[in-house]
Amino acid sequence: MTSSTTNDRTRHFPPTFLWGAATASYQIEGASTVDGRGPSIWDTFSHTPGAVWNDDNGDVACDHYHRMDEDLDLMADLDIGAYRFSVAWPRIIPDGTGQVNQRGLDFYRRLVDGLRDRDIEPTLTLYHWDLPQPLEDRGGWTVRDTAEAFAAFVEVVARTFGDDVERWITLNEPWCSSWLGYGSGHHAPGIRDIGMAAAANHHLLLAHGLAVPILRETIAQAKVGITLNLSDHRPGSEDPLDVAAARRADGNLNRLFLDPIFHGRYPEDMLAHYSKFSPGFSVVHEGDLELISRPIDFLGVNYYSPVTVVDESRATEARTAGYIVATGDQFPDLCLRGLETPGRDRTAMDWEIQAAGLTALLVHIRDEYSTLPIYITENGAAFDDYVDPNGRVLDFNRVAYLQEHISAVHDAIDAGVNVQGYFVWSLLDNFEWAFGYSRRFGIVWVDFPTGTRLPKESFHWYRDAIASNTVQYAQSPGSR
Ligand code: FCB
Repeated sequence: MTSSTTNDRTRHFPPTFLWGAATASYQIEGASTVDGRGPSIWDTFSHTPGAVWNDDNGDVACDHYHRMDEDLDLMADLDIGAYRFSVAWPRIIPDGTGQVNQRGLDFYRRLVDGLRDRDIEPTLTLYHWDLPQPLEDRGGWTVRDTAEAFAAFVEVVARTFGDDVERWITLNEPWCSSWLGYGSGHHAPGIRDIGMAAAANHHLLLAHGLAVPILRETIAQAKVGITLNLSDHRPGSEDPLDVAAARRADGNLNRLFLDPIFHGRYPEDMLAHYSKFSPGFSVVHEGDLELISRPIDFLGVNYYSPVTVVDESRATEARTAGYIVATGDQFPDLCLRGLETPGRDRTAMDWEIQAAGLTALLVHIRDEYSTLPIYITENGAAFDDYVDPNGRVLDFNRVAYLQEHISAVHDAIDAGVNVQGYFVWSLLDNFEWAFGYSRRFGIVWVDFPTGTRLPKESFHWYRDAIASNTVQYAQSPGSR
């Protein structure tokens, strides 16, 4: 891998570096009952009063289902090399198992062909959280059968698109599916049970492990990976209690996924911690970890923000040291408190902006887990954008965020990490899960009542970065 520097601030990316944009089916498609699509857990959850901000739902979303051509043209204008999208399982197999819905496949066929016509490489995520509701009714990810059902679904998608899609992502952020879906209940299906979350964690990884050989056997040239949401965890102080708290946070978010995938085992400290919850990891069968650790071709990394924590017994000390301390944690069993560094910029999600955490994370993955190619499959920020009286969205804060984070990716490449591409989250403002339409992550503004698209300043900035294959280096404040 090569990269070079021509002036003080211009950073050149390797010639093969892949620039992309990402979306997900439930967040953009809408058309939730059109052409035979069945209900997903997110339809059920978002129609549950009080579950989602403003009781928003994905019934219409960006209406991408009907505006696909316009969105493809936006991508062509942006000149991305790759588009990461997900296929909705309930569009393709509405009951979760059994009958295949040809009209669902036809929709993605048009999308894949439209991308190919525009020289954009499809990067297909097989599961981005929209589990068919009938499977949830039979236990969802807490039961093993769902992993088997996923394998059958993968086979259908692989057979249909194998000739035209090379890069495959089995799962998006299985941590969110398991721990937010079944642990804290913030996401669909809205269950709050740590033991069920741990079981879901395992069955999701098993689903990944079952999918890998199916993709390989069906598609000779397949490049197969998984996308994880990972973070750089820091203790609020050097106190051993805080160091241990950061280790627990890292265990739950990072190691429960990276260790089985790359080392073929769950971390001992996490197994011990979750042994008091049922069914927890007792659902692991002999041989499962061999399946889960089957070789993959790349790792997808989603990064948004660093995490700083202290042990919950040390909240007062952290406050005295000048931190703002979270009042509680979504997982009380972990006994920790998140910290905000005063003065640090935050996004509209209230996530601290710290691009150096991305470099640190990438170096850590390389050192501890794997030298496989890495794609940043999501990175971006929500801000309180608005259309100004001149009809523009001047989202300079998002431009700064992207500039700092893409610079951080360049730092990682300079440090020898094998990062081969970057996908901005997101192409479009969309349904931001529990936050509904109240959080805008797009580089294209979407006027939800009409569906009108308006490229933001960040779209033009990103297009220039792609065209020149460079960024003007911006170091994130507070780099350590
Ligand atoms: C990630 C999700 C993605 C989007 C971003 C902001 O966790 O994968 O769908 O919502 O966060």
